[in-house]
Amino acid sequence: MRKKIVAGNWKMNTTIQEGIALVNELQKLIHDGNIGSANVIIAPPFTHLSEIINVTKNSVIKVSAQNCANELKGAFTGEVSVAMLQSIGVSHCLIGHSERRSYYHEDNAMLNKKVKLALQAGITPIFCCGEVLKEREEGKLFEVIKSQISEALFDLSADDYSKIIIAYEPVWAIGTGVTASPAQAQEMHAFIRNLITEKYGKQIADETSLLYGGSCNAANANELFAQADIDGGLIGGASLKAADFYTIITSF
Ligand code: PGA
Repeated sequence: MRKKIVAGNWKMNTTIQEGIALVNELQKLIHDGNIGSANVIIAPPFTHLSEIINVTKNSVIKVSAQNCANELKGAFTGEVSVAMLQSIGVSHCLIGHSERRSYYHEDNAMLNKKVKLALQAGITPIFCCGEVLKEREEGKLFEVIKSQISEALFDLSADDYSKIIIAYEPVWAIGTGVTASPAQAQEMHAFIRNLITEKYGKQIADETSLLYGGSCNAANANELFAQADIDGGLIGGASLKAADFYTIITSF
């Protein structure tokens, strides 16, 4: 059965002190509560990763990076390689977040390299895709998602592909307070699962965790997660408040 996952993307927020306080608060809620079968991942900034991995070592929380370099090593000032992430115990990495695509011009070919490097290092990619509003309005949303997924992922072997988590995040919903309706989200998740079925077969498609992201919060997570093809969420703003994030984790 595919995993239910809630992943928190902290983006460029929190100092290390604030990050540790946030994770400690979250751990206490998880410890005292009941998260059922949910898998919890947090993606703090690079500077926090080592310390947060240390602080969470006895907890269910897994720690993800928000990005990785598209080269193995060498003269790439300011970049962080998958080997560096692996060496401190990072288990997951966001790849292709829309902010990386739009502000840092990451294209499908570059994301394909990052996905392969992460897999080689034993790090699970959380591959993000999503259309901008204009593409949705022009009816190009399915074509956009198909090219993002097929160009970045579909030259992987079935074995490699089966390790990927996909997050569908409509760009118009990220950080805007406008959430995709459960029906809009489900429609795209079903489309993505179908794409995977066509390429890798039903069994692998059924096992792929598909997360929804974009203004998912403590009030709407329940309805979104109840959709047949939505297996959890990638949460930005609401992951910065432990109580809200905990509510989302327990929204299945
Ligand atoms: P948001 O961000 O929840 O603040 O909309 C989601 C994301 O960018 O992953």
